[in-house]
Amino acid sequence: MKERFKKGLEDVVASESSVCFIDGKKGQLLYRGYDIRDLAEHSAYEEVAYLLLFGKLPGRKELGSFSNELAGCRELPERLVDIMGHFCRKLLPIDALRSCVSLLKCYDPAGNDRSMEANITRGVDLIAKFPTIVAYYYRINQELKIVHPDKRLGHAENFLYMLSGKKPDKLDARMTDLDMVLHAEHEFNASTFAARVTASTLSDMYAAITTAIGTLEGPLHGGAASAVVRMLDDIGNERNVEGYITKTLESHGKIMGVGHRIYKTLDPRVAKIRELARQAGERKGDLRYYKMLVKLEDVIKKAGLNKKGIYPNVDLYTGAVYKNLGIPEVLFDPMFALGRIAGWVAHVLEQYGDNRLIRPVTVYTGKKNLRYIPIGKR
Ligand code: ACO
Repeated sequence: MKERFKKGLEDVVASESSVCFIDGKKGQLLYRGYDIRDLAEHSAYEEVAYLLLFGKLPGRKELGSFSNELAGCRELPERLVDIMGHFCRKLLPIDALRSCVSLLKCYDPAGNDRSMEANITRGVDLIAKFPTIVAYYYRINQELKIVHPDKRLGHAENFLYMLSGKKPDKLDARMTDLDMVLHAEHEFNASTFAARVTASTLSDMYAAITTAIGTLEGPLHGGAASAVVRMLDDIGNERNVEGYITKTLESHGKIMGVGHRIYKTLDPRVAKIRELARQAGERKGDLRYYKMLVKLEDVIKKAGLNKKGIYPNVDLYTGAVYKNLGIPEVLFDPMFALGRIAGWVAHVLEQYGDNRLIRPVTVYTGKKNLRYIPIGKR
């Protein structure tokens, strides 16, 4: 039994799946067979979400009606917005998102219908509503009037509009859209696996997605982008990068945005997000973060981390993109969820489609056969 145990389930095959393929040695990532680099180049988030959910690229008509369906589901139930008014000033946005997903169950017109059709509708509804929840959270939290969704705008464009109250320019919208595409899916990462475990008990979609959000929150997963920005603020400027990294490595600390369980070469999403960070920085006339990160990549290489299979991951540059797009730092964690919701839904549907309870075993390390001593005699 002991030989079978892999701490952190490293390399353990937990399921079959046709949603996503990763080759961590070659640095390859495919969504439903399509290379992430092609999707990042050519697809908008709506198209990627369709691909993940239905397993094929949509035709023009299919994409049009899917995009319309998403746009038509964006608004939140009024009662939910009222409730958000009570908790949005107290909760972090990722906690508010998790709580809202849970509460959305109360407003599900399909009730307890567990058919595949009802679950697809639920999944599409959640993809559509995620940006609204995050934008409403922010505006309520900042005591600003909420900005209702605009059906005429694309998924990412509408998110920026609801957040700032201003129609974003096309480039900012495309950058946000690309970030969502790059984060849309990633095989059995911790949050997706957690969602599938919950779905495997035949809990409902809301329970599975709530589980995923809870799992995403930590700095080893979805919290990495904000942790990188805090790290950069600590470092201060490009000249301090080398000293900071050396000190961190000497004290066996971790460098945020670096390392990955699966990739032992450069994460294939990094080139695109690095380029986005440069573009976003140039547009705002602030390349400070970008330059520090490029230097950081160089320093960790010289320090020998690449030789150990430790390379930058997608979230090294994500925070720099958000910062220069004007996305408030407090929203960095839920930003990841705005992209990943499509992948979560695709996996939950796949789990329901061919379910078996996920229930692994442990290697027991406790005592055995202890004699029970009544409380008065202990
Ligand atoms: N900085 C320095 N050393 C590292 C790093 C890092 N970021 N990541 C791994 N290592 C080293 C560890 O110290 C360890 O060294 P040792 O064997 O000498 O003790 C070795 O590499 C293995 O590290 P583990 O933490 O066991 O690797 P694991 O596969 O469990 O962790 C993880 C992967 C959690 C992503 C890790 O690399 C990490 O903590 N990175 C920083 C956080 C981060 O960027 N998370 C985002 C992940 S990607 C995403 O969710 C989008």
